[in-house]
Amino acid sequence: MDSKISRLERINRVIVGCQWGDEGKGKVVDLLSQEADIVARFQGGNNAGHTIVVGEVQYIFHLIPSGILHPGKVCVIGNGVVLDPVVFMEELETLQNLGIDYAGRIFISAATNLIMPYHRVVDGIEETGRGKNGIGTTKRGIGPAYQDKVRRMGIRLADIFNDKRLKEKLEAQEVLKSHWLSNMPDDKKVDFAKLYDDILGYREVFRPMMKDVSLMLHEARKADMAILFEGAQGAMLDVDLGTYPFCTSSNTTVGGALTGLGMGPSMIDEVVGIVKAYTTRVGAGPFPTELHDDMGEKLREIGGEYGATTKRPRRTGWLDLVLLRHTTRINGVDKVAITKLDVLDTLDEIKVATYYRHDGKKVENLPMDMCSICDCEPVYQTFEGWKTSTAGITSYDDMPVKAREYIDFICNDLNVKPILLSTGPAREQTVMV
Ligand code: GDP
Ligand code: IMO
Ligand code: MG
Repeated sequence: MDSKISRLERINRVIVGCQWGDEGKGKVVDLLSQEADIVARFQGGNNAGHTIVVGEVQYIFHLIPSGILHPGKVCVIGNGVVLDPVVFMEELETLQNLGIDYAGRIFISAATNLIMPYHRVVDGIEETGRGKNGIGTTKRGIGPAYQDKVRRMGIRLADIFNDKRLKEKLEAQEVLKSHWLSNMPDDKKVDFAKLYDDILGYREVFRPMMKDVSLMLHEARKADMAILFEGAQGAMLDVDLGTYPFCTSSNTTVGGALTGLGMGPSMIDEVVGIVKAYTTRVGAGPFPTELHDDMGEKLREIGGEYGATTKRPRRTGWLDLVLLRHTTRINGVDKVAITKLDVLDTLDEIKVATYYRHDGKKVENLPMDMCSICDCEPVYQTFEGWKTSTAGITSYDDMPVKAREYIDFICNDLNVKPILLSTGPAREQTVMV
């Protein structure tokens, strides 16, 4: 890989999505991993789909941190993550098939909660039960696994090394989940005795990976290593600060990095927010700037907006500054990476919501009651399109003037500086600002 980003300081950065996920975090984390020694995931699970394009090859990671493609970099999964061992084993196998040496490079907190088959089943049942109020979850068992964690009945990685504890926990789960599982067809029934054996079968893979991640990161900091904290989902999917209840079940915002890895704020030197040049969302929930017309379809097609995890078509819409003011503030974003600018290349005009109108009043900040967003009408400022290809441009000076005006407008409004602009999915299709 070229050393385009060698001008960046080697500091500890948190990468967070500033919309509803799929902003391009995978690409940015992969790129900035070049400057880091350790890449750490702190929340979420395999609901995430982080895409990295290297040459002709596209990689999609759901659990393993996006730094794994850089030989020698260490990847860490924190206690804030919910980890499905089945998916994790599949990802390891993929790495092996690709010839990527991960031995001694992946570490997982002993306190990480595991996603079990019954979590996946319950996710499906709960989602069906919500009927027309469905969240549109990824059905990966994320919500039910976090429910068990908060209920203090989760199975943590360390538990799988203690026969008695594991057995007791599974017995308790069998009772707790019987309400959901008893009426399942045979092919969906969970065989707890088999599950116990399956879990024991994972032991030897996990044994060398289990770590006190908090201690490890603090030691790394002392040794002047640079750490990249890789957020999953986006700030609008945060369980506290997002569009509740249409959100995920973890803190996707910067605080999640602290509790999800066991560290204090002084470990973080810079917060980088990833902002897609327009907006997308997968699943249900409010989306004020959503486009239901040909323009929405055009953004989806040009941007390839289909879920990296569930393949569902993503909902598309214009950039929303009301939303971004909220997400940059709650994350204390220092710098933004603006991605997918090339997707706007052919448009005659580009709109940005600068405020909402609600009950005849001007609203510049997201209402506290996220449900009332549905009643807000976005008010747009229109920009002339640059109508020239930015795909693959690598220098800010080569960006079309009108694209620069668009970028400057966003950064000025949010009072943030850009760290990079992305002009294509590949590593080298990047402008380091
Ligand atoms: P993440 O979940 O935030 O990592 O994002 P996803 O990987 O789910 O979705 C982003 C998609 O956009 C992926 O297919 C990326 O390869 C692609 N992508 C990332 N940056 C750019 C860009 O600047 N331009 C274009 N055209 N595609 C990009
Ligand atoms: P990355 O990391 C986009 C959405 C789901 C659903 C809601 C709850 O790739 O940006 P869950 O399965 O978490 O209980 O689903 O959250 N969602 C995502 N949307 N990108 C993601 O991850 C997402 N992870 C979850 O579509 O609406
Ligand atoms: Mg994604």
